[in-house]
Amino acid sequence: MSKNRSYRSLFNGIDVPMQLGDGTYIIPINFDNAATTPPLKKVDSFVYENILMYGSVGRGGHKSSYCTRAYEVSRQEVLNFFNITNEEEYTVIYVKNTTEGINHLASVLCNNRMDKVLATRMEHHANDLPWRMAASMFYVDIDHEGKFSLQDIEEKLYDAQGTIKYVTVTGASNVTGYVSPIHKIAELAHKYGAMIIVDAAQLIAHRAINIKGTGKNDSIDFLVFSGHKMYAPFGSGVIIGLKEVLNNKIPYLVGGGAVSAVLDDDVYWKETPQKNEAGTPNFLGAMSIVASMVVLKEVGFDAISDHEEKLKCRLLEGLSELPKVVLYGSAQCQDRLGVVPFNVEGIDHIRMSHLLKEIRGIAVRNGCFCAQPYVTRLLGISDKERYHYMLHPNLTPPGMIRASLGLYNTEEEVDDFLNTVEYIVKHRVAKS
Ligand code: ALA
Repeated sequence: MSKNRSYRSLFNGIDVPMQLGDGTYIIPINFDNAATTPPLKKVDSFVYENILMYGSVGRGGHKSSYCTRAYEVSRQEVLNFFNITNEEEYTVIYVKNTTEGINHLASVLCNNRMDKVLATRMEHHANDLPWRMAASMFYVDIDHEGKFSLQDIEEKLYDAQGTIKYVTVTGASNVTGYVSPIHKIAELAHKYGAMIIVDAAQLIAHRAINIKGTGKNDSIDFLVFSGHKMYAPFGSGVIIGLKEVLNNKIPYLVGGGAVSAVLDDDVYWKETPQKNEAGTPNFLGAMSIVASMVVLKEVGFDAISDHEEKLKCRLLEGLSELPKVVLYGSAQCQDRLGVVPFNVEGIDHIRMSHLLKEIRGIAVRNGCFCAQPYVTRLLGISDKERYHYMLHPNLTPPGMIRASLGLYNTEEEVDDFLNTVEYIVKHRVAKS
């Protein structure tokens, strides 16, 4: 059994045949892992074991005690995954997903619209809109390859003379897969008196993250991720953050579980993390995240990134050799996850994605991937043009195709994908 095969055997549901446009069945190729990921077998089995013991966290009898304990222990297990051992400084708050986590952070961290937040034009909407609603925004722009620079971040921080409170940045782009130098950004943020938030939705399943950094004042203050992007699609995500700061304010979501006492005219809040988790927690979601972390650590991030790096380079090289294919972002393989956006001249992204599915059962995503400011910059489309497209929904909207890789993908799948793109380019583009 090859190594790739052995990774495949860790997963459930990836070999279920699907019907093609011509009516035949095939094992599909899922190259849409940046959107969401299938479950690991160990995640499924751990969730099932815990279903048998399911009860309400923090409320009730026998099964509730088991769940409450497992749920509370899981917080430390999550911290361990990020190399935080016996740490009093950080806490783990369970949320629904990265989007909810960042909304939650924006509501707790920002006091009013005068608070200044620095972001990049590379962000997913989930790490842009919550801050736009809560604070005054400043942005670092991207260059022609879709990258931002540390120098631009430092200039913005310097110009603001210590008034920027938070720097929020993606750990890795869901469009180009660029990996951000999060610890260098943290060091800069701290140097100018700001705190850093990392949207780790894309990074979490692909690279080891050491929240405390190297000891050069480069630790990450807050980090958010989703279980469903790390092979644990059971509806939970996580905020890891500085306990003291999270304790400062009452979050927008309030209710049962978050309070010590509710008097007729007064409320006494629990300490974080309970204060930040009103409502019955998603116990099974939390268990799924912990189970996934165990497997990812067993496989090891060196092995994960070696494998995914090989696939990504093969994919990038293969696509760059095909006529009519336009790649976005740097063709260099370094500092990118296996997230590859492209277009094919003469065939729009909606049709291309449809053809990949119909001809070879390939799932990719097309469109702007919830990152419109970034994607339209890469496409060279102005805000005026975007507005025009919005007013004319009958026009094909701007967009790209995105192939994104996961641990279970194989070189054979990359080759099949490249052959299918080549086939489409030759046959469909030639005809149009
Ligand atoms: N916005 C997520 C993506 O990149 C779901 O596909």
